[in-house]
Amino acid sequence: MSILKVNLLPRDYSYQVEIVDDFLDNVRDYVRQAVKTDQYAIIADENICKIYGAKIKNQIKKGARKVELISFPAGEKSKNWEKVGELARKMIQLGFDRKCCIIALGGGVTGDLAGLVASVFLRGVALIQIPTSLLAMVDSSIGGKTGVDVLEGKNLMGTFYQPRKVITNISFLDTLPESEFLNGLAEVVKHSVIWDRSHFLNIAGNARQILKRDPIILKKIITKTIQIKAEIVMKDEQEARLRRILNFGHTFGHAIEAQSKYKLLHGQAVAMGMHFACRLAEEFGFSETEKIIRLLKQFKLPVCPDKNYDHGRLLKKMYNDKKSVRGKIYFVLPKKIGEVFFAEVDECNLREHLRSFQETCGI
Ligand SMILES: NC(=O)c1ccc[n+]([C@@H]2O[C@H](COP(=O)([O-])OP(=O)(O)OC[C@H]3O[C@@H](n4cnc5c(N)ncnc54)[C@H](O)[C@@H]3O)[C@@H](O)[C@H]2O)c1
Repeated sequence: MSILKVNLLPRDYSYQVEIVDDFLDNVRDYVRQAVKTDQYAIIADENICKIYGAKIKNQIKKGARKVELISFPAGEKSKNWEKVGELARKMIQLGFDRKCCIIALGGGVTGDLAGLVASVFLRGVALIQIPTSLLAMVDSSIGGKTGVDVLEGKNLMGTFYQPRKVITNISFLDTLPESEFLNGLAEVVKHSVIWDRSHFLNIAGNARQILKRDPIILKKIITKTIQIKAEIVMKDEQEARLRRILNFGHTFGHAIEAQSKYKLLHGQAVAMGMHFACRLAEEFGFSETEKIIRLLKQFKLPVCPDKNYDHGRLLKKMYNDKKSVRGKIYFVLPKKIGEVFFAEVDECNLREHLRSFQETCGI
């Protein structure tokens, strides 16, 4: 077992990300070591409930007074205020009180949704994150961002709410569908581009084994990616500045994801967003776009939209995105692989870049 300690220094507590191999055999011990209580509410989407729900619930049940599995329909469409209210009300009806602990068992949607419920239920209860998708393991379970989508855009409502522990077990990936695995690889690539050139080279050099889900290589790559995310979050928990580099690829990515009515997976949209940002960075002298594109394509991620989206609506989405500050859009752009910078791009240049990106993509 490896343990990564994530110390969030700005606050007077810290928590650990534990990467464990034997989770499914020792669920109860891991959960109780993280939060000792006699009431656990496991929040999971319907897919995860079907595969893991009963096994995990039955194990935690031994010795606990109340353990309930609360499910919701899988997918981004569940990440909304109504669902937060429904889940919180369900918890009240089931008799959970302030001493309870919420276990967010699932992908990023579950983590964001259940995390938000934990932060508002009876003004905040203990939370354990147990990520089951690759994206959730390397990204969304770390750093305490919770959130839901509204009509105007993605993740526009939410809280910073740190879990007591993140328990990561790579064997959950055995049941993750291929498209979702590739989706998570987009965030793995993103972390390497923004922070660590040697990690990028390592990923590129092991791309075939990664695609085959070689457990030894995967564990190394996932652990390194978690370390990168943790390091960034530790330096800037509340996204004052540095943490914003995690938004690389997300400004265009979120806009296109919303315009596709969430038919595109988050990672697919981020892959296109990274391509969009790389091309924009070329205007500032960046010259490594092709290396990034090659790796994304190797991971079967789309780097171009399949059709031409309405530029006016894309721009509006980008301005509504929480990454814009006082009406200005700051893009996270690569200087070189492993290092990024912030660039303010005005509307006129952005329109022009949308046009040239469309030409590059041949649509
Ligand atoms: N909070 C943050 O810091 C942060 C960071 C990045 C992304 N996000 C959010 O994360 C979300 C995307 O996360 P996601 O890609 O994990 O989506 P998801 O939670 O919808 O999971 C994707 C699909 O995979 C299934 N699944 C997950 N684990 C599985 C497993 N082990 N076996 C079988 N099926 C499994 C789920 O049921 C779902 O159908 C987006 O809403 C995004 O905004 C949040």
